[in-house]
Amino acid sequence: MHDLSVLNFVGSDFVVINERLARFYGIPNVRGDQFRRVPVPDGVHRGGIVTQASMLTITSNGTRTSPVNRGTWVLKNVLGIDPGLPVANAGDIAPKVPGIDRATVRQRLEIHRTLPQCARCHNKIDPLGFALENFNADGEWRDQEGFGYKGRIERNDPKINAASKLPDGTAIDGVDELQVVLRQREDLFLNCLASKLLTYALGRELGIADQPAVKAAVAHTKQNRYTLRSLVTFIVLSNSFQTK
Ligand code: HEC
Repeated sequence: MHDLSVLNFVGSDFVVINERLARFYGIPNVRGDQFRRVPVPDGVHRGGIVTQASMLTITSNGTRTSPVNRGTWVLKNVLGIDPGLPVANAGDIAPKVPGIDRATVRQRLEIHRTLPQCARCHNKIDPLGFALENFNADGEWRDQEGFGYKGRIERNDPKINAASKLPDGTAIDGVDELQVVLRQREDLFLNCLASKLLTYALGRELGIADQPAVKAAVAHTKQNRYTLRSLVTFIVLSNSFQTK
């Protein structure tokens, strides 16, 4: 029993992988199908939920990444912030950008991000996703966006730009800096995780009346080395759960 901190969801110096996933992540010397704990080698950008191929894949649309979907996922599921419903008929991202031969997904998105009525939401959403652009649609690491056959990377394909600015002005570049920022916003994350676990435990949506229980669960977890065990125990012993 390692009795670990929930902050490992945000960032972690180990991953739990088997040989197949190790090859995908570029981590050597992992043999066999069984999942085991492996330290993340230097220079490999894995560890934490935003680096997991599963999340990176479900937020892509098959052939290209969607920084919008990834940003929305991080907002909702890590920070617990609802970005609001997408506007009706926004359509797909622009297929081409005038004057740019091989326009990256990011450049294609920039077009609508300049409109104030869109920027209102997309300034909150897209930067989080841009930071993850080094992961391709399958979640594999890349330094360039591929324009070759079936998206293969060719020599002169554009380099990934994973730098952006959050609405509060914080500049972030790439997944490592995104994880630093998420870590700095740990209260939002803890609140989000506690709310989700409590929702699961109670089998219903939470209301205003549940907020004190969520707050207490967060405080208890912080006082107990942030362990997942302390959070689960607190919820199971809570009045809300015991009297549901
Ligand atoms: C109220 C917040 C909000 C506003 C305003 C908004 N969007 Fe969005 N948009 C979203 C969210 C959230 C998504 C994520 C997709 C989803 O949840 O289905 C999204 C998704 C998109 C996508 C799909 C991206 C992809 O990779 O497929 C496009 C394109 C888009 N929006 C364009 C626009 C445009 C253009 C405007 C302005 C006319 C706009 N949006 C205004 C919230 C918003």
